[in-house]
Amino acid sequence: MIYSRIAGTGSYLPEKVLTNSDLEKMVDTTDEWIRERTGIERRHIAAEGETTVDLAERAVRAALDAAGCKPEDVDFIAFGTTTPDLWFPNCGVLLQARLGCRGVPAFSVETACSGFMYALAMADKFVRAGEARRALAIGAETLSRITDWTDRSTAVLFADGAGAVLLEPSTEPGILSTHLHADGTYKDMLYSGGGTDARKTRRAITMTGNEVFKVAVSTLSKSIDEALAANHLERSALDWLVPHQANLRIIQATARKLDLPMERVITTVQDHGNTSAASVPLALDYGVRSGKIQRGQLMLLEAFGGGFTWGSALIRY
Ligand code: ACO
Repeated sequence: MIYSRIAGTGSYLPEKVLTNSDLEKMVDTTDEWIRERTGIERRHIAAEGETTVDLAERAVRAALDAAGCKPEDVDFIAFGTTTPDLWFPNCGVLLQARLGCRGVPAFSVETACSGFMYALAMADKFVRAGEARRALAIGAETLSRITDWTDRSTAVLFADGAGAVLLEPSTEPGILSTHLHADGTYKDMLYSGGGTDARKTRRAITMTGNEVFKVAVSTLSKSIDEALAANHLERSALDWLVPHQANLRIIQATARKLDLPMERVITTVQDHGNTSAASVPLALDYGVRSGKIQRGQLMLLEAFGGGFTWGSALIRY
């Protein structure tokens, strides 16, 4: 039996930091409101001309270094993003050209905040099937490019960054399971237009925040129970929860429903804001590099986003 395991993680955040007090000067908001409602204190914003693939390349090179692999070793690229550099070629292809691993499959996945979970699930399946040996799963975003900086209800939330993992085959798990879901009937609750549909021309992220909040909390706790049940494990077996970093209140509510103390939850939302597809791999890389997540520990990754789409991965690190 072949499993996939995480050989290395990496992440990258743009240099520019935007604090809540910076935002107070831009829209009618306060540091207190943002902290209380979201937990966010600061976030990173890409420089002019810095693209999603620029951020992803840095994260990927860090993951490859951590795994002791060279860019030309990569043989599969799954790239989660909602803010691609171009309509096409996709971000996976643009990254592949920079890494020099010509000829290997490379594609992007546009499932909003769960883009990395979808990318990871596909990379896992290709490694398990013996069709890839060094598979990259990436989440990278420049959400600042589709944020309406005059709209206080969204400007305080979204930010830029990138994270990546390199998977390799292993006789031991590794990734124990992945679960992916979508429910398109919620399509109008959270979206960004500006595509080819002339009826939805507003490109800026549009969200009914409090409605999304309620569905996110109930869906995420069910999603975690689904992953544990599929592996015949109790909630207490988890060493770490690595959740999508949209809002500290959603993370706390999810942890409460699971009776999981916050000491066992990786939180980066205070420093990163909501980086959509980049959020989970950024949090994971922080957890690994800070020494919190140790080899052999059991962790659950989960994300929820526009669509709605959501997914989880239960992983023995
Ligand atoms: N500063 C001050 N006041 C504000 C701000 C702001 N930045 N934004 C909104 N308000 C006001 C509103 O106008 C409203 O005022 P009113 O009561 O006078 O009408 C009041 O604050 C409360 O607004 P709510 O929207 O009800 O606030 P809520 O507590 O729900 O917090 C938030 C809003 C932070 C957006 C929250 O609902 C949330 O996090 N939702 C989920 C986000 C999420 O998980 N998205 C999914 C992933 S993202 C993706 O897929 C791209």
